[in-house]
Amino acid sequence: MTLYGIDFHHGLFLAPLSGYTSWPMRLLCRRYGAELAYTEMISAEGLIRNRKVTGKLLDRPEEDKPLVAQLFTASPEEAALASRIIEDCGLDGIDLNMGCPVKKVVSRGAGAALMTEPERARDLAEHVVRQVKIPVSVKMRAGWDSSFLNAASLAAALQETGICAICIHPRTRVDMYRGMPRWEVLREMKQRVSLPIVASGDISRVEDLSRLASLGADAFMIGRAAIGRPWIFRELTGAHPPDRAEHAEVMLSHLDMICSCYGKDKGVRYMRKFLSSYVRGFTGASLFRKMACSVQTQPDLSELIRDFFF
Ligand SMILES: Cc1cc2nc3c(=O)[nH]c(=O)nc-3n(C[C@H](O)[C@H](O)[C@H](O)COP(=O)(O)O)c2cc1C
Repeated sequence: MTLYGIDFHHGLFLAPLSGYTSWPMRLLCRRYGAELAYTEMISAEGLIRNRKVTGKLLDRPEEDKPLVAQLFTASPEEAALASRIIEDCGLDGIDLNMGCPVKKVVSRGAGAALMTEPERARDLAEHVVRQVKIPVSVKMRAGWDSSFLNAASLAAALQETGICAICIHPRTRVDMYRGMPRWEVLREMKQRVSLPIVASGDISRVEDLSRLASLGADAFMIGRAAIGRPWIFRELTGAHPPDRAEHAEVMLSHLDMICSCYGKDKGVRYMRKFLSSYVRGFTGASLFRKMACSVQTQPDLSELIRDFFF
């Protein structure tokens, strides 16, 4: 499968997850077989205005590739300007966010709100495709709510702009993350467009891949299932889960990378959101979580992790 001009073997990608998929998580997932990763969503306005926190979302070590940057904005002009910045940073592609359900984003007409304004959505994609040479994709939801499921028709309109792929998380904006993904939307989309389709939503088992491939998915995004479980990419190709030693080594190396990305103090706090998922299902997990909350330094947290696993 060729996507973003790159050949992929399994088509297993790390989904964009705001607050999680900065370069440390991306590198760990790549180590286990994620063939492509996306940045967290990036504000086009923040990038143009050179805001420090926004620019940091594009930080990455040399080996963090291939990487697609995801942009959010309601403005075609802003999107075009920001996409030039991204191209100049050497990224492999740009994904336009038309699926974010968060109030702060949709109230400004961006994210999933763009699905209710197909003309603007199309204009936005056109502006970006015209502006850059790197491939451009769009990530969308099934629609706004159950009475407005327009993903397939929007995808058909966007196809004419020259985008390279559609990524679909087939819940509606109103669904947020509740209920089952509406996979019938993927099937309908496949009938309407010839573009490659990347499926996103509750993918965590080998059976999910074959089922979604039979509905028309060309590649797969793994999101929440990769939090505290980067080896899921290896498991999805039929390989074994890690033993205790490997599990501990991954957590320690995640902590190291997070501390070099965010600094030691912020890094220890940032790591906390992963810890709960890392130890889920282990005996003593709840005591570990409690103790981890009171630990303030990297050496203390490393010791706690070692004590837990050995
Ligand atoms: C905490 C969190 C942050 C997310 N951030 C983004 C984002 O920045 N951009 C985006 O397109 N989707 C974002 N999503 C949606 C995911 O990419 C994905 O489509 C969705 O979670 C369904 O896939 P999953 O079940 O594999 O997580 C986010 C989801 C979660 C739970």
